[in-house]
Amino acid sequence: MENKITVMDHPLIQHKISLLRDKNTGSKEFRELISEVTLLMSYEATRDLPLKEIEVETPIATAKTKVLAGRKLAFIPILRSGIGMMDGVTMLIPAAKVGHIGIFRDESTSKLTFYYNKMPKDISNRDVIVLDPMLATGETATVAIDKIKQYDPNTIKFMCIIASPEGVRALNNAHPDVQIYCAAIDAKTDENGYIVPGFGDAGDRIFGTN
Ligand code: URA
Repeated sequence: MENKITVMDHPLIQHKISLLRDKNTGSKEFRELISEVTLLMSYEATRDLPLKEIEVETPIATAKTKVLAGRKLAFIPILRSGIGMMDGVTMLIPAAKVGHIGIFRDESTSKLTFYYNKMPKDISNRDVIVLDPMLATGETATVAIDKIKQYDPNTIKFMCIIASPEGVRALNNAHPDVQIYCAAIDAKTDENGYIVPGFGDAGDRIFGTN
C-alpha cells in the first residue's frame, strides 16, 4: 500500500524544525516555534478547501473573487501535547470548532486508556484535523481516530510535526482513508517510544515540565 503522507519540506518549516530539535531551545521559544510550524503546515493541510465565487465592490470596480464555501472544520488536539498546536491552526482558521481527546498509557498494563473526550455537537458535519506533534508508534493516533470515527465526521486528516516510519505505516494500515501531514520523517522510534532523533518529549518541552 502506498503511504498516504504529505511531507512539508518548505525551507521556513525545515529551519524551524532544526531549532525545535536543539535541546538548548527553551520552553517559550519551543512553544512559539510549534505554533509557527503548525501555522505554516496548515496552509498545505487546508489546500483542498472548496471556494465559491462572489462579487465585491472595490473602490474602482466590481471584482469577481473567491471566498471559502463554508465547509466547516474541527480541530482535535490529542492531550496534552496537541494543545501546543492549537494557536497555529486557530490563528489561520478562527471559526473552526475544537474537540479534545485525552489518552494515557497505563504503565502496569501498557494499555492505552481514554480519560477525556469532548467533541463539537455538529462534528458529523465537519472535516476534522487531528493534532499531535509526534507520530511515534502510531498507537495513540490510531485509537484516537478509532474514537473520532464513532462520531462520523465528513473527513479526517492527521497533522503532526515529526513522524517515524513505523508510525506512518501503522496509521496508514489502521486508517487508510486518513491523510497524514508532517514536516519530517525521522529514522525510527526507540524502545521507550521516543522518535530518534526527534525533539524529545513534546509535552514536556511545550509546557516546561521536564
Ligand atoms: N511523544 C513525544 O513527545 N516525543 C516522542 O519522541 C514520541 C512521542
